[in-house]
Amino acid sequence: MTARSEPLRVGVLASGRGSNLQSLLDATAAPDFPARVVVVISDRERAQALERAAAAHVQRVWLDPKAYGDRPAYDEALRACLDQHEVELVCLAGFMRILTSAFVRYLEGRLVNIHPSLLPAFPGLHAQQQALDHGAKVTGVTVHFVDEGVDTGPIIAQAAVPVRDDDTETSLSARILVEEHRLYPEVVRLLAERRVGLVGRRVVIAR
Ligand code: GRF
Repeated sequence: MTARSEPLRVGVLASGRGSNLQSLLDATAAPDFPARVVVVISDRERAQALERAAAAHVQRVWLDPKAYGDRPAYDEALRACLDQHEVELVCLAGFMRILTSAFVRYLEGRLVNIHPSLLPAFPGLHAQQQALDHGAKVTGVTVHFVDEGVDTGPIIAQAAVPVRDDDTETSLSARILVEEHRLYPEVVRLLAERRVGLVGRRVVIAR
């Protein structure tokens, strides 16, 4: 397949530390990478993610939930901001708000998330602790399209991470994070290269 001439315009939504954002900023900074992060939006004024955006000279926007009456109004503001920056792909990277169905539908096929488990195991919060509590021997990371459920959308890519007997939530999270930082840019590249297709809820990658 031929490469696009213009890099894919990516928007990242992040609430916190932003280490996945950083992996995307680093990967997309390479001149031959087929995507660029054009805006980082956060619901938290002091999110480290916003500092990372500034350091990378990427537009950053704080959208304060308190400034909007309800979730639909907030998501409408999000949508307006993404449109204003002509965003083509939205990456959730530790964005801690539930998105409205209208927003998810608007971005269908253009909204992806990273989750620290092998979905459909351990959706929701504290996925690493859930894996430990369950006694799983293998867990990992999933990048998936976002649908209207919580961590239920079509799976684009996964990587496995073994659970060690002496793992804590901290040690396991750190090993999963290494895989997260590798996998998310890889998926963004595949999407930018238009190599990701959907058959039912099955994602097919053109190799
Ligand atoms: C990551 O573990 C990601 O999988 C999950 O939230 C965490 C965000 O971490 N969705 P960071 O802010 O990217 O460092």
